Amino acid sequence: MKDIMIATSNLGKVKEYKQLLEPLGYTVHSLKEIDHVDIDENGQTFAENALIKAKSIKNKCDMIVIADDSGLEIDALNKEPGIHSARYLAGHDYDYKNKIILERMKDKTDRRARFICAIALIDDKQHVFEGVMEGTIAYEPAGTNGFGYDPIFVVPQFNLTSAQLTAQEKNSVSHRGQATEKLLAYLKEHNL
Ligand code: IMP
Repeated sequence: MKDIMIATSNLGKVKEYKQLLEPLGYTVHSLKEIDHVDIDENGQTFAENALIKAKSIKNKCDMIVIADDSGLEIDALNKEPGIHSARYLAGHDYDYKNKIILERMKDKTDRRARFICAIALIDDKQHVFEGVMEGTIAYEPAGTNGFGYDPIFVVPQFNLTSAQLTAQEKNSVSHRGQATEKLLAYLKEHNL
């Protein structure tokens, strides 16, 4: 049996990776199984932060480790919230965070934005797989699917916000879907 540690305690992420990897014969482990590790995510990019997380955990367990980092970059806001996406306006819910972003974007004509996802994998070497979903910031929130900034992000292929897409539609074009495809191709190619 092949074992993979997902360096996250986010149950939603663990569930998604289980759905992807268990049918391929992997046993998916998570941080709940090891002693608490303090991780200082002080990288400047999504890729650096994903690698920082994976390396900190690799020291604690003897199996392939995967960690990811993702977020939303908005051009007119100097790429904010960017690598701080999870911590942006900490303590507030996403209805509020999205409202504040739309207020800050009120007079902006450049509405370009992108979701980025970096997945780091450490076996005997280290690798980062990246996916990017380009889009624009909506004028009003719409949709209830997905999570986080999905209601304010318009996906051009569908001309809908990513919160108006089904999970399958979102995965077919999303940053996480693309990064995951690259990860799975790597695992297959190297027979890991
Ligand atoms: P992470 O757990 O450090 O990768 O945090 C990523 C953060 O970026 C999330 O908490 C969301 O705020 C945002 N984010 C990343 N991917 C998505 C997405 O697909 N939809 C909406 N928000 C996202």
